[in-house]
Amino acid sequence: MEIDVFTLFPESFEWFEQQRHVRNALAAGSQLQYVNFRDHTPLSAGQVDDTPFGGGAGMLLRVDVVESALHARYGIDPVQLRERRRVIALSPAGRLLDDALADELATEPALTLLCGRYEGFDERILEHFASDQVSVGRYVLSGGELAAMVVCDAVLRKLPGALGDASSSAEESFSAALGGDPEYPHYTRPAEHRGWRVPDVLLSGHHERIGQWRREQSRQRARRAANASDE
Ligand SMILES: C[S@@+](CC[C@H](N)C(=O)[O-])C[C@H]1O[C@@H](n2cnc3c(N)ncnc32)[C@H](O)[C@@H]1O
Repeated sequence: MEIDVFTLFPESFEWFEQQRHVRNALAAGSQLQYVNFRDHTPLSAGQVDDTPFGGGAGMLLRVDVVESALHARYGIDPVQLRERRRVIALSPAGRLLDDALADELATEPALTLLCGRYEGFDERILEHFASDQVSVGRYVLSGGELAAMVVCDAVLRKLPGALGDASSSAEESFSAALGGDPEYPHYTRPAEHRGWRVPDVLLSGHHERIGQWRREQSRQRARRAANASDE
C-alpha cells in the first residue's frame, strides 16, 4: 500500500516510522511518504492559511494551497484525484474510524491523508478534493497528524508482514472473529500474584472450554461497555 500524508509537520512522523510493525510493513513493500503543504504554496512567504470569512477565531488551511500541493504530487486536477484513490481529510466530524473502516482501507492500494491544523480546512477542500472525512474520536486534537498516525497504524498492522505473528490481528477486539466484540482478558505468569489467581480454565489445557470462556468474556465486556456508554 502507498500512503501519502499531506501535512505542515512531516517531522512529527519520525517516531511513528520507527515502530516495529510500521518498519515491517514498509519492508514488506508498503510506502509512507509526506508532502508538506508549505513546500507547494503559491503564496508568498510560505503562507498556507488565512482568516475565516464572517469572522471568528483561528486560521483555516487555504483551498488554493491544498490544491497546489495535491496537483504537484499527482499531476492532475485534485477534483479528479478522488476518483482514482481515497483522499481522506482527517476531521473530528468525519466518519468514526472503527475496525470495519480500517479493514476497508487496508484493501486499498493507495491512500492520501490530509492533515488539518489551526481551525481546520476551508470547506471547499472537503467538498471538492476529499473522497472521505475520517474522525478518530469525538474530541478535538490540535492537528491531523496524530489522527493520521492512528489511521496508518490501524491500517498498516492489518497488512501481511506487519505483525510478527499474523494471527495476532485475526482475533482482536472488534474483529469479525469475535463478532465485533472486545477481546477477552489475557494472563501470563505468574499464575498467582498477591492472591490474584489466573482463572482455572486457562490453566486447564482444555481448548474447547478455554474457547467458550473467552467468547463469553468478550460478550460480557461488550455488554459492560454498552452499559457504561448508556450511563
Ligand atoms: C483544532 S482541529 C480543528 C477543529 C475544528 N475547528 C472543529 O471544531 O471541528 C485541527 C485539525 O486537527 C484534525 N483533527 C482534530 N481532531 C480530530 C479528530 N478527532 N479526528 C480526526 N482529525 C482531527 C483535523 O485535521 C482538523 O482540521
